[in-house]
Amino acid sequence: MYYPDELIEEIRSRNDVVDIISGYVRLQKKGNSYFGLCPFHNEKSPSFSVSPGKQMYYCFGCGAGGNVITFLMKYENMGFSEAIKSLADRAGVSLPEPEYSEEMKRKENKRQRLFAVNKEAARYFYYQLRAPQGKPGLEYLSGRQLSEETMKQFGLGFANVTSNDLVQYLKSKGFEEQDIIDAGLASMDERYGLHDKFWNRVMFPIQDANHRVIGFGGRVMGDGKPKYLNSPETLIFDKSRNLYGLNFARTSRAKNIILCEGYMDVIAMHQAGFNQAVASLGTAFTSGQAGLLRRYADTVILAYDSDGAGVNAAMRAIGILKEVGLPGKVLDMKPYKDPDEFIKNLGKEAFQERIDNAENSFFFEIRILQQSFDMDDPGSATNFHREIAKKLCQFEEEVERNNYLQAVAKRFQIDPDSLKKLVVSYAAKTGGVKPIERPKSLTAHEGQKKNTPEENIKKSQRLLLTWLVEEPETYGQIKKYISTEDFTEELYRKVAEILFASLEKGEMNPASIISMFEDEETQQQVAELFNTKVVSLNTKEEKENAFHDIVYAVKKNSFEYYSARLGTDLTAIDQVIQAKKALEELSKTHISL
Ligand code: CTP
Ligand code: MN
Repeated sequence: MYYPDELIEEIRSRNDVVDIISGYVRLQKKGNSYFGLCPFHNEKSPSFSVSPGKQMYYCFGCGAGGNVITFLMKYENMGFSEAIKSLADRAGVSLPEPEYSEEMKRKENKRQRLFAVNKEAARYFYYQLRAPQGKPGLEYLSGRQLSEETMKQFGLGFANVTSNDLVQYLKSKGFEEQDIIDAGLASMDERYGLHDKFWNRVMFPIQDANHRVIGFGGRVMGDGKPKYLNSPETLIFDKSRNLYGLNFARTSRAKNIILCEGYMDVIAMHQAGFNQAVASLGTAFTSGQAGLLRRYADTVILAYDSDGAGVNAAMRAIGILKEVGLPGKVLDMKPYKDPDEFIKNLGKEAFQERIDNAENSFFFEIRILQQSFDMDDPGSATNFHREIAKKLCQFEEEVERNNYLQAVAKRFQIDPDSLKKLVVSYAAKTGGVKPIERPKSLTAHEGQKKNTPEENIKKSQRLLLTWLVEEPETYGQIKKYISTEDFTEELYRKVAEILFASLEKGEMNPASIISMFEDEETQQQVAELFNTKVVSLNTKEEKENAFHDIVYAVKKNSFEYYSARLGTDLTAIDQVIQAKKALEELSKTHISL
């Protein structure tokens, strides 16, 4: 932990969880809590709850949960200390210099130096483009109809014909050779020594979401090969987690994000006013990037090249968007190859029209699929219908599936009833309607947990912890039978120890316990401990019975757990004796609440 616990707690408690989250999610008050649509998975009715009392959020749909720090870490993709910094800022709390380990300090210093090298290189390229030697670059870019202003906004530059002037310049500015190499700007060659990676190209600096230059793409001015040369991945340049143009697109007011293939496409779209355009970085679109986009948009419009490769890439991208629950649409660029050419030829109004008429990704997939079937051949046509049925099975919700079924049947002139039969038969064969596979972290929630004995034990322990948090007055009853040793799951025991200790002092503050753990995954698990519910407890009697059963189950597990460890674990014998006694007593006691 780099900040003292008390400071973290002060910052956390000065940022109200409802305040912060309502800046991102529309919340409505219901009873003691607020509810809204979960920003971490795709849903149509709200199961995302924010509790002002607990100062926590929890999604009953996907299990995402935590305190205000967890929320920022997850939503804004921040590290723990980054989230702390941001919250301290909002609350006007000043932070001391964090105490990093030597290793982390070294790494952080290196990162800062790589940012600095890249920034200086971008300045150098920028300057060269406007100097006499940059004339070919400037002519090339003007020839592609980029305005002065656009070139400035994107920080476009020029790498000279000479092959080591950047290295010379950076060294004159005091940068170390090793940092220049590690930033991917130069490499060491036995014959030529240290030499620039980029020369005689127009330069596109690649920025992260915070406008920091993390790498470059360089284009030849003409037909040379390779057309683009890109910085390699470095300590600060992860191609699967950044997108070109995102630094501008993230603050665009548009509801959608336009995803395209090329740097020039992004720039052309922004110049035409479509400032929600982004592109992947010379590599295929990844689920990391999809996760990033989910934070800024509720639909992604694919504006990939209209050639075969573009169509294949779009099909892949649709699959990836589905995984993270982001609806996709596909923009028709014909008769042009890419957004840049389209806008040049038909203008921005026509492009806006194409955006408005972008095709739902499901119909796009079906349409592309159809091309591989001969519709004049009955056998082949039937196979096509089977494929449609298979795709329809991806819709989990019946209403949605039916709507698509009706629409697709109409469009392809298929009898809806026969299509329905195909869906049913496919579902029967494969064991039901196949939900789209979501990333693991989104599915690890209560509803989908297996009903194994181990899971049931864990659940009893979670239920007990939630009970304590929600009704701390039961602590007096609980501590008669239960000790922290009874929580046999390591994380649960740690949490129980903290919880019991504060209850002894008459305090209860679950949100503060969450931030004692630094990684998001653990914070989420702790949040779950405080949000495990017994369904429908109406009468006092039902409640007391449930309470008794939970205490009993936890104790019984503890008894079995320690019995199995007799002889190897020194504390086991005490636990076993104590548990046996408690179990006997519990079996003849009614606990009243
Ligand atoms: N790309 C690359 N290396 C190449 C070719 C392409 O990294 N040799 C990446 C670049 O990020 C490029 C994108 O793939 O922006 C799309 O490539 P392409 O469609 O060929 O280029 P355009 O972006 O259309 O560029 P231009 O309009 O300048 O031809
Ligand atoms: Mn192009």
